[in-house]
Amino acid sequence: MAAPSIALIGAGRMGAALASGWLAGKSKPDIRIQDPKPSETVTEWADAGKVAVNPDPEPVDVLIIAVKPQVFPKMAESLKSWIGPKTLVVSIMAGTRIKQLAERLGTDCVIRVMPNTPGAIGKGVSVISKSGMVMAKQLEIAEKLLRPLGAVIGPVDEKHMSIVTGLSGSGPAYVFLMAEAMADAAIAEGLSAELAEQLAALTIEGAATLMVQSDQPPSALRKAVTSPGGTTQAALDILMDEGGMPILMRKAIRAAANRDRELSRDTD
Ligand SMILES: NC(=O)c1ccc[n+]([C@@H]2O[C@H](COP(=O)([O-])OP(=O)(O)OC[C@H]3O[C@@H](n4cnc5c(N)ncnc54)[C@H](OP(=O)(O)O)[C@@H]3O)[C@@H](O)[C@H]2O)c1
Repeated sequence: MAAPSIALIGAGRMGAALASGWLAGKSKPDIRIQDPKPSETVTEWADAGKVAVNPDPEPVDVLIIAVKPQVFPKMAESLKSWIGPKTLVVSIMAGTRIKQLAERLGTDCVIRVMPNTPGAIGKGVSVISKSGMVMAKQLEIAEKLLRPLGAVIGPVDEKHMSIVTGLSGSGPAYVFLMAEAMADAAIAEGLSAELAEQLAALTIEGAATLMVQSDQPPSALRKAVTSPGGTTQAALDILMDEGGMPILMRKAIRAAANRDRELSRDTD
């Protein structure tokens, strides 16, 4: 199959990570980038003839929207020039629902994606939700185009996207907070900031890699490193106490999901 023609709207952190992955791949897609202030990297791609920057819009196979959600309503009408009867629209904007995309763009062929920040280095996870009009072949194309950001999961029912946002979308910040709190605690106990921050980050990286590579659930991995009466047990007794991490996380993810529902209502 010939590589699809792609219009990428917004080449910021996520958009540029996508385009950079497509350019590194074997198939040489026809990439048109729309961005009012293209970065140096994007300009270099254009100078090397790898992408077209800000060309006149015309219908493409896939239109990828990677601008901030607040920018979208103002520009939606102009994006219609990229859309033909066979164009698939893929939006990575947080909180903008399939129905809102379909109404503003005048097409039902829409995929909504929730990526996360590690996508900028190809280590993210993107969760897909789609309208009923998207065909299996188009879903396959979208999954392939999203792979530069990392793992691609779904499609999931759109009603679950707010919870997905609270888990994987906002999740990297919870992990950064954990690293921060672990390091601060060690500093308070007398370790240097440099060593504490290094150990916290490497511990999280190692534990996360172990978890992803293991076929065991996180609870089994936790139990395997917790000897009764040992040091880990002493710490977990605090973290898992009433009002501890499990209940806090329950409240945090619910708050994030509720905020996502509010935000997507605001943009109606
Ligand atoms: N970063 C994440 O971890 C993450 C996670 C989940 C979802 N998302 C979603 O991904 C989308 C992109 O996020 P990002 O972090 O890549 O944002 P970003 O770095 O701000 O990128 C957005 C890009 O769009 C450009 N832009 C602004 N107005 C435009 C227009 N009218 N036409 C074309 N391009 C325009 C911006 O240019 P200027 O900078 O000059 O304004 C910028 O280059 C957002 O909708 C966000 O909700 C991001």
